Order: sequence, then structure tokens, then C-alpha cells
Amino acid sequence: MANVLELVTKELEQLERSNTYKYEVPLQSAQDGIVRVGGRNAVMLASNNYLGLSNHPGVRSAAIRGIREYGYGVASVRFICGTQDIHLALEKKIAKFLGTEDTILFSSCWAANEAFFASLTNEKMGVDSYRDVIYSDRLNHASIIDGQRLCRGETTEKKIYAHADMNDLVRQLEEDRGKDYRLRIIASDGVFSMEGDLAPLDALVAIAAKYDAILFVDDSHGVGVCGKTGRGTPEARGVHGRVEVLTGTLGKAIGGAAGGYISGRRELIAFMRQKARTYIFSNSLPPAIVFGADAAFTLLMKDRSLVRKLAANTAYFRRGISALGFRILEGEHPIVPVMLGEASVAQAMSQALMKAGVYVRGLWYPVVPKGEARLRAQVSAALSTREIDTVLRAFEKVGKKMNLI
Ligand SMILES: Cc1ncc(COP(=O)(O)O)c(C=O)c1O
Repeated sequence: MANVLELVTKELEQLERSNTYKYEVPLQSAQDGIVRVGGRNAVMLASNNYLGLSNHPGVRSAAIRGIREYGYGVASVRFICGTQDIHLALEKKIAKFLGTEDTILFSSCWAANEAFFASLTNEKMGVDSYRDVIYSDRLNHASIIDGQRLCRGETTEKKIYAHADMNDLVRQLEEDRGKDYRLRIIASDGVFSMEGDLAPLDALVAIAAKYDAILFVDDSHGVGVCGKTGRGTPEARGVHGRVEVLTGTLGKAIGGAAGGYISGRRELIAFMRQKARTYIFSNSLPPAIVFGADAAFTLLMKDRSLVRKLAANTAYFRRGISALGFRILEGEHPIVPVMLGEASVAQAMSQALMKAGVYVRGLWYPVVPKGEARLRAQVSAALSTREIDTVLRAFEKVGKKMNLI
């Protein structure tokens, strides 16, 4: 029999050799525009704190009020004794914000995505013999992929279409037209986190309607970020309120703590409350998070200034970094991939930038295709123009030193 410690040690060594070992750099401060790391200040350009709400005074004080009024933990799953009126109020608020009928909260978007695919396709719902089919974008997030892994192979066919390629999707739907599927599901991220590109949701809504498919969109990087009022990728693509199923996280723009949700038709949400295993058998969100997220949505509904500031900061950074001569993936999202090619270059550049006071992470194979190593910059509304200028100067200095520009 193999020794488990020998096996895992070998695997860890392999990760080191292949340059894929993930090192964690501890922050010595709150998550914010400026963070403390290694005893020094650095401009944060690697977090999903898009609106700067992670350490926002209004969100912080709401979370403290949550603890004061409703305690620290709920010590139960929702259906036993873990539903407080604040959970129901937040669910209603999210539905209102997204233009859907109802919402169900989860401990994370990961849990929400697992719940959606498994609950829907594994339940017979009175049909003894059936087949469902899922068409999934090739670049969908790991939680969508793992959610689909939970769907039983005997009853669910899983198909992949080329990234954002509507011709490929339609070709596959046409091929399957005569087949007697019970459910057809099309699954896409709203924003793809490695590239920062937005899914063509207008086309996806039309295609889903034409082929009688359920459209599922994970808008974790879209909500609070995309669209004039931050309502997400559907708003940016002119289909607000018309995506049948939306999932998202409370762990990025919406305060950055934790939690996720599925939002959609009333009956679908009621079904999830009965069948979603990650909801039924997992603890309720704690009051501090519910209050913090509620305050974040309230702020977004009342005031567009943070969404505007994020858009302005993003445009400013995208212009500045291109003007320096770096190649970026063009787009509109605060995820700005700065393309460098070789993994060793991305690694060296992120280390040099850290020394220059800019915290930005590199991505390389196998996270992105070979030869497409990059720094993934993520802009935040928490940054001032001066701080973005500091970042640009650091990129210029390091880029020149490394003969990249
Ligand atoms: C597109 C997408 N979906 C889901 C998740 C997971 O969200 P959570 O942290 O709430 O589980 C992430 C986080 O990285 C994500 O980028």
C-alpha cells in the first residue's frame, strides 16, 4: 500500500518543478485600495474588491450592527432554525436589484452553482426515464464545471461549446433538435475571469428562447461592476431581467466577505429550497455578512457614484497601460490582462512590481494557455487617480528595465 505522505510530498514537489505551486502572501491589513504587505504599503491590483466595499465604513458598521442585533452565528441550516427575517429581506432585495422574482442564499457561489445543476438534473420530478442536456462555455468557472460533474451521467449529457462562440452553440443545438430531452440548459459566466470579457448575453437570451433552453448565467464578476447601475452583465448587454437563472457571489464587489445566491423564477427558487443539498445541509449565512451585503446593495441602489468611479478608473488604467506600450486584452471590465507571453516573465514582473509597491498576480499555464502568461490587473473604485498613476509609473519602470516596452 502507498504511504499517503510520500504520495502528497511527491505531488507537491511536482507542483514546485512545474511552477504551479501557489504561494500565499499574507496581508497585514484590511483588504483595500492600499494594503500592508511585508511591512510596507502596496497598491492592491489583484483583488475582486471592485467597488472598494471590503473596508467601506457603511458596510463595516452594518456588519457590526448585524452582530449586535442578531448575534454572531446562526448555528443551524435554513430549514431547521437558521432562517432569520434578515435572510428573507436580503433575498428579496437581491431579486429586486436583479429584476428577478426571487432569490435563495447560499454560503458561497460555489455552493449555489453546485446546487443548481445537481438539483435540477438529478431529480426525476415525476418522469421515470429522461435525458437532460447542458451546453457549457469552454471557459466557464471551475464551480460551474464541478456543478455539472455532480449531474448523473445516465441522465445528463454535457457538451462544451467554443468560448463565446454562438455559431458553435447553435450548431450543437441544431444537431440535437430532434432529440427528446427533458431539459436543455445553456450555461455561461457573465464575465470570464481570466480574460475579463463579457458573454454575449443578448445573443444567448435569444438563442435560449428559440431552442426552448434554460439560460444559466454566473454573474459573479458582473454584479456591482457592469451596466450603468451595476446590475451586471445583463444590464450591460441590454437584457436586464431576461436571463432566466442568475447566480452570483457576495464575495467580490458586494463587500467581498462570502456568500452566494441563485436568482430567478419563484417556482425554481422554491424547488431549490427543497432540493439543493448545499442549502439543506449547510449552515445559514451569519448576520454580519447578511447585514453587510444588504448595506452594499442598498448603497448601489441609492447611489451610482461608485459604479461610475470604477468605470472611470478602469478606462483610465486601460488607456494608461496601453499608452506605455503593454499589450492588454481589450474590453470594458476592470479585469485587465496584461499579456507577457512566457511564465518566467510574468513571474519576474509580478515580483518586481511587488518590490515597487504594486500587488498584482501573474497567471500562466495551465491556468491560461501555453505562451499566454499574463499579469491580471484588477482595477477598483477604492483607488484614486494618483494611486493609479503610481501603478502606471511602476509598470513603466519595471517594463523598461525588463526590456518589455
Ligand atoms: C465566476 C465565478 N463563479 C463563482 C465563484 C465562486 O464564488 P464564491 O467565492 O462565492 O464561492 C467565483 C470565484 O472565484 C467566480 O469567479
